Amino acid sequence: MRISVIGCGYLGAVHASAMAELGHEVVGVDIDAAKVAELAAGRPPFFEPGLAEILTSATASGRLRFSTDIADAADAEVHFVAVGTPQSAGTNAADLSYVDAAFAALAPHLADGALVVGKSTVPVGTASRLAELLAAVAPQAEVAWNPEFLREGFAVRDTLEPDRLVYGVRDPGGDGRAASVLDRVYRAAIEAGAPRIVTDYATAELVKVAANAFLATKISFINAMAEIADVTGADVTALADAIGHDARIGRRFLNAGVGFGGGCLPKDIRAFTARAEELGRGESLAFLREVDAINLRQRQRVVDLAVAALGGQVHRKRIAVLGVTFKPESDDVRDSPALDVAVQLKGLGADVVATDPEGIENARARHPQLDYVSSTREALRGADLVVLVTEWREYRALDPVDSARLVAGRRIIDARNVLDAAAWRAAGWELRGIGRP
Ligand code: UDX
Repeated sequence: MRISVIGCGYLGAVHASAMAELGHEVVGVDIDAAKVAELAAGRPPFFEPGLAEILTSATASGRLRFSTDIADAADAEVHFVAVGTPQSAGTNAADLSYVDAAFAALAPHLADGALVVGKSTVPVGTASRLAELLAAVAPQAEVAWNPEFLREGFAVRDTLEPDRLVYGVRDPGGDGRAASVLDRVYRAAIEAGAPRIVTDYATAELVKVAANAFLATKISFINAMAEIADVTGADVTALADAIGHDARIGRRFLNAGVGFGGGCLPKDIRAFTARAEELGRGESLAFLREVDAINLRQRQRVVDLAVAALGGQVHRKRIAVLGVTFKPESDDVRDSPALDVAVQLKGLGADVVATDPEGIENARARHPQLDYVSSTREALRGADLVVLVTEWREYRALDPVDSARLVAGRRIIDARNVLDAAAWRAAGWELRGIGRP
């Protein structure tokens, strides 16, 4: 099929490449000329495992092109809108200006029968508003909403092999045209057995934010348990293992630590709360404010543990911060708990030396005041305290005996509860985890 993808960020660049990998003819459009040039040359402008491979093969095959000119999307039968919906400055609501601009820019170029498919995460009600706007200026086109559930770090696999497909359509009981167009786009996934749910716009929009709200709640739930564990001497990891055996609860997303960050979970729960208030149902989602507050408290908790580990004196102490991205296997530092902790420690007068396998460039662009080094050994050298904040494999695999030889003081905060505490203590380290004795 001929497909366009509007917006080539973490979501759109992967979606465009994956659609071409599936055999479709794809044009990716973005207003950022530098990004378009990189993508067109087959180079991903950000780190995402597996993306370089499919991007290179698709651009080489001629099935994938990139452009800054929206007119180049005019041929497509299906247009995916994958632009960002960041948190608005000064409020909790989502900033819809990029989505609105993408629909407005596309409208004059839509062919007869074109399907415009929103993938961006939007407040409920957006799809029907945009469908109405489009009906006025491009009645030949139709709108569908097809939320994306990809996880950074697994984005390519999640796009090629989605665990479910959700189509929000104008009239779920109608002719089924939009759904059958999307079925053709996703034929491979459907044949592989991916469940497919066809519903109205509002449900499709809510599925996405409800999923993220549930995941965020699960993480904050276990972090709240960690807070109780901390004052009672209990072990939150054993607790998570034990409750996780209950199939109704499940063990995944029950890892206590410095909490969630990234470009989705934090801003999505805030935007959802803001939307509920607009709808006069603020109390229904009031618990999400608590989820957010518990989450932000974990960052402070890690800073407090660091200060305590140094006997209350952080000024001029050398602190090695391992990890700046919001999770491993990504270079994304948006709302990163790790970077927040590093910045706070620096603000307290510590000599912070931060490192990360992929995120240094992005972190430096936001926080040039921090010192960054590319090697873990260099970060550890002479450190009075080590804070592991992003659980990259390399940090999980650190050898406590070898690391002890590099540092000035054997103190470590395991802010992701991933280290073998007994082995580190046996090597002479003072180790503190989150919610662990
Ligand atoms: C999330 C959703 O998982 C995905 O479905 C949606 O499309 C976009 O938002 P992502 O932002 O890539 O994906 O990250 P995710 O893997 O969900 O992790 C979010 C944050 O939660 C990370 O900071 C991670 O470190 C943290 N986390 C996750 C925990 O603190 N504990 C856990 O047990 C799991």
